[in-house]
Amino acid sequence: MAQISKPVRPHRSATTSTIILLTLLSPCMAQTKTTSPFTDQATGIQFQRFFGARTNFGFGIALPQTPNTSFIGQLTFPLVNRAGWGGFSLTGDMEGPLLMAAWADGAGGVVSSFRQAFDEDNDPPEVTGAFSVRPIAEATSANGSFLTYTFLCEGCLGAALGLDAAAATTAEMGWALGSRAVRNPGSSAGALAFHDTGFGDFEADLAAARSAQFDTWAALAGAPLQPAAGARAFDLAAGDGEGDSGDEGGADEGDRDGEESDDDD
Ligand code: HEM
Repeated sequence: MAQISKPVRPHRSATTSTIILLTLLSPCMAQTKTTSPFTDQATGIQFQRFFGARTNFGFGIALPQTPNTSFIGQLTFPLVNRAGWGGFSLTGDMEGPLLMAAWADGAGGVVSSFRQAFDEDNDPPEVTGAFSVRPIAEATSANGSFLTYTFLCEGCLGAALGLDAAAATTAEMGWALGSRAVRNPGSSAGALAFHDTGFGDFEADLAAARSAQFDTWAALAGAPLQPAAGARAFDLAAGDGEGDSGDEGGADEGDRDGEESDDDD
């Protein structure tokens, strides 16, 4: 009697199916980007920089050879008819850690402001604490369409602020870019609107951000900026970002067009 042989079907394991599914989904899933080397032309400062090719938002970080509580940062981003703001978070979250936002003051200068968010519904208030920012004028400018802000941030790193660079070789950090005008832009307490252009997180290669030239670069920094009257004390208890990991997914949500999967320039 002739046997009816069963057609041989390639067996697809659950793992294979998962891989196929992830491959299909990957173009629309945000991928965490890592910083890469970038040298500022005006000062020669060597940063590890996150750069979003869709938005042209950049954030660079440079650290001393033996990391302490200071870093040199550089924010670069387009403005829309002089309007808009850009910023970073010391963690991948908005709520809790030390944030900094910068914008054009409308008179050729750059205003920066330390912020701390306690929710994602309101403009985060300006905060003050044992940290300060000292602009590096040679590499700070704003015109109608682009802003560059280079600064020494002293006392800005530590576990309670969100990032302990002495204890980490990589760290997740966050970025945000808004196109709408800051209300009362001449003040560091100016009111920010939602980061409608983009936001998300990235991985900062802190080991590669270290440089023996840090002190030479830091010597370029000017006087510390003072916060506006009414800035509140940074809440150290909220600053480590603990307990708000639930909003991780927000980065993907806000970046549906694949910003984070773009290549670095
Ligand atoms: C009016 C001001 C602001 C509003 C209304 C706002 C609102 C929000 C909202 C609703 C989300 C979550 C979006 C989602 O899950 O789809 C978010 C995420 C985020 N925001 Fe803001 N934000 C403001 C200012 C800022 C500032 C000043 C910074 C940094 C300087 C910042 C950094 C971030 C980051 C890094 C994320 C991603 C964090 C995560 O998903 O956990 N935001 N923001």
